Amino acid sequence: MNPVRQSFNRAASSYDAVGDLQHQVATSLTAFIKTKLSANFDGHLLDAGCGTGYCLGQLVPSYPAAKFIAVDFAERMLQQLPADPRALGINANLENLPVCTGKINTYLSSLAWQWCDATRAAKEAARVLKPQGELFVATLVTGTFQELAHGLQVCGLNPDQHLLRCTSRAQIQSALEAADIEVLTLSSTRITTWHADFSALRHSIRGVGANHLPQQTTPALNRQTRMQLIEAYEGLRTARGLPLSYEVLTIHARKR
Ligand SMILES: C[S@@+](CC[C@H](N)C(=O)[O-])C[C@H]1O[C@@H](n2cnc3c(N)ncnc32)[C@H](O)[C@@H]1O
Repeated sequence: MNPVRQSFNRAASSYDAVGDLQHQVATSLTAFIKTKLSANFDGHLLDAGCGTGYCLGQLVPSYPAAKFIAVDFAERMLQQLPADPRALGINANLENLPVCTGKINTYLSSLAWQWCDATRAAKEAARVLKPQGELFVATLVTGTFQELAHGLQVCGLNPDQHLLRCTSRAQIQSALEAADIEVLTLSSTRITTWHADFSALRHSIRGVGANHLPQQTTPALNRQTRMQLIEAYEGLRTARGLPLSYEVLTIHARKR
């Protein structure tokens, strides 16, 4: 099985307890959707990479006439979806959706695209969207985990081999344009989380299943390098603790 998928399966039961940052991003994305989608929306809304269904939980009560499709490739995440006759859970890859062409009115995805090939994700979103259908995506871009990258560099290691390689804002924008999706707004926000120590910081990543990388990686750090990394990271400590930053790109777009 794909190691990223396996890792999200393992994290399914701890995800909601650890995923404060993920909930913060999802809350802000769904609040934004509510400003754009009228309360009598009665079309199909697809959540790509739905996880435990946090976004659906925010949207289902506000759209009593809508039909929801929730897709995730980690089946144990899907098992956590709240039961609702209007929400259909599908175990599938968002790069290859088992959904008819042009069926979806509104596509949303919160913090899943960074695990995918943005070009393929955008192309597939464009395929399932109706013409003029809207897309709302929050994803991580370059600059995410910059403190960890700095610590690894201090230890003489290549961050690309140890951290999730995020796409840039410009690459996402070109992927959307190439898929015939018109970008309406793009906004970046840096969210910094604070941790008592390095082990709590690592737990915030592992607990949501974000510890396996899609790219080929080098073996785990040995004890000596890990100690060196912790020492370098301690240099970033402030009164709030150790920082870990996420660069979140929020996109609102429309299929041409
Ligand atoms: C960080 S979680 C976000 C979950 C949810 N959207 C939220 O806001 O709480 C990322 C989710 O995307 C899913 N995912 C990652 N890559 C995927 C892919 N290619 N196809 C389908 N699901 C994917 C993972 O299994 C995981 O449940």
